[in-house]
Amino acid sequence: MNAPRAPIAVIGTGYVGLVTAAGFAELGSEVWCVDIDAEKIARLQRGEVPIYEPGLEEVLARHAERLHFSTDIGQALEHARLLFVAVGTPPTYSGDADLSAVHAVVDELPSSGDHALVMKSTVPCGTGASIQRAFEERGVQGIAYVSCPEFLKEGTALKDFRHPDRVVVGEHDGSWAGQAVVDLYEPLGAPLVRTDVASAEMIKLASNAFLATKISFINEIANVCEETGADVVEVARGVGLDDRIGPKFLQAGIGYGGSCFTKDVSALKLLAANSGYHFQLLNAVTEVNELQKRRVVSKLERHLGGKLSGRRVALLGLAFKPETDDMRGASSLVLAARLLAEGAKVTAFDPVAEQEARKLMPQLDYRDSALDAIEGADAVVLVTEWREFLELDWKHVAQAMSGDLVIDGRNALDAATIRDAGLVYEGIGTR
Ligand SMILES: NC(=O)c1ccc[n+]([C@@H]2O[C@H](COP(=O)([O-])OP(=O)(O)OC[C@H]3O[C@@H](n4cnc5c(N)ncnc54)[C@H](O)[C@@H]3O)[C@@H](O)[C@H]2O)c1
Repeated sequence: MNAPRAPIAVIGTGYVGLVTAAGFAELGSEVWCVDIDAEKIARLQRGEVPIYEPGLEEVLARHAERLHFSTDIGQALEHARLLFVAVGTPPTYSGDADLSAVHAVVDELPSSGDHALVMKSTVPCGTGASIQRAFEERGVQGIAYVSCPEFLKEGTALKDFRHPDRVVVGEHDGSWAGQAVVDLYEPLGAPLVRTDVASAEMIKLASNAFLATKISFINEIANVCEETGADVVEVARGVGLDDRIGPKFLQAGIGYGGSCFTKDVSALKLLAANSGYHFQLLNAVTEVNELQKRRVVSKLERHLGGKLSGRRVALLGLAFKPETDDMRGASSLVLAARLLAEGAKVTAFDPVAEQEARKLMPQLDYRDSALDAIEGADAVVLVTEWREFLELDWKHVAQAMSGDLVIDGRNALDAATIRDAGLVYEGIGTR
C-alpha cells in the first residue's frame, strides 16, 4: 500500500515512543525500538502492549513485521539514520527537567556523519545546544540534531499522530536531517513549522504552559461564579465563541494532571528563572491548580456537616483523564490523600488505571465497578469523566448510596438527571 520509506529508530518505548513507532510503521517505515527496560522490551517482543492507549495494540499487531524491539541500541544504529529520542524528562527535586535519560542516550552515540538525533522528548530551550557541547566534549563528531517536539494527547494519541495540528522541525542550518524528518512527516499533510532548534524547543514549552494557563483561568472564573451566582458552563460557552479565544480547554474542574503540564510549566518557569527572568504568571497557574484539587474537600465538608472523619466517599475515576491508565500527576492523588488525612473512608473505581493507581495509593479501597464503589457512600465524586460514569443509572446510584451528595469534579454529568434521582448535585462553578 505504502511505498518503502526510510527506516527509523525510536529510543524510549513509553507513551510517546510507542505511538511514534506505531505511527511511522503504519506509514511504511521499518522501526527499530530501543528501551533500557528489559521487561518492557520482552513484553513488546511477545506482542503485549505495556500501556493503555486506544487502538495502539491493534496498530502494533498489524505492523508487527516492521517493528523490532531491543535493549541494544547497536541494531538501531545499524539500520536507521534518524534516531527519535522519546525517553522521559521528569521533574527533578528543584523542578527543572531531569535530562539524565536524554544524556544517557547521547552518551551511547559514537561519531557518525550518517545519524541524526531527533528529540521528541520535551526538553528545556537550550538542550539542543548543550547536547552539541556534550558531543564535542566527548570528541563525538558528525551527529546531526533536530528538535521535533511531540504534541500528542494520551487517550487520542494515534489520532493525534495521524492528524497533527502542526509538525515542528527545529534544525541547524545546512544539516541533511531536518529535511529527512520533514520527508517522514510529509504524508500526514500537516502544517509545518520549520525553525531553529531553540525556537522549536520553546514552542513545546510555551504550548503546554498556555494550555495550563487556560485551565487555571477558567477554574478561577468557576470559583468566582460560585460566589456570584453565575454559571461557568454558560460563561465558557459565551467566552469560547470568541474566535480569538476558542472553546477548547475552557472546561472548569478539579485541576489538570498528567505527566506534562505540571512538569513543563515548572520547567519553563525555572528555565526563565535560571536565565534571570521571573515568570510571574506561571506561579499563579500552578498555585491555582494545586488549590483546585483541594476544593472538593471543602465542598464535601460543607455538605456533610464539617468533619469527614468516618464518612464514606466514593471516587469515580483515578486516571488523570479518560482513555488512559496514566496516573502521573492525577488530581485523584492529591484528593485521595487529603480525604484519607481527614479520616474519610475512600472507595475507588477506575475502569483501566487501577493497577497503576495501586502502586501509588495502596491504601485505597479499590472496587470492581462504579456501583460497588458507590455502595453505602455518603458522597460520590466524579474525578475522571470516563464514558461509563456519564451513563450511570442515577436512580440506581441513589438507592445504593447511604447519603445523597454527588460532586461532579469535571462538570460532565447531567445535573437535572441527578437531581431527578433525588440526589444533591454540586459541580465546579455550575448549577
Ligand atoms: N505522555 C505524553 O502525553 C507526552 C506528550 C508529549 C510529549 N511528551 C514528552 O515525551 C517524553 C516521553 O514521555 P512518555 O510519557 O512517553 O514517557 P514514558 O515514561 O512513558 O516513557 C519513557 C521511556 O523511556 C525509557 N528510557 C529511559 N531511559 C532510557 C534510555 N537511556 N534508553 C532507552 N530508553 C530509555 C523508559 O524505560 C520508558 O519506557 C517526555 O519528555 C514527555 O514530556 C509526553
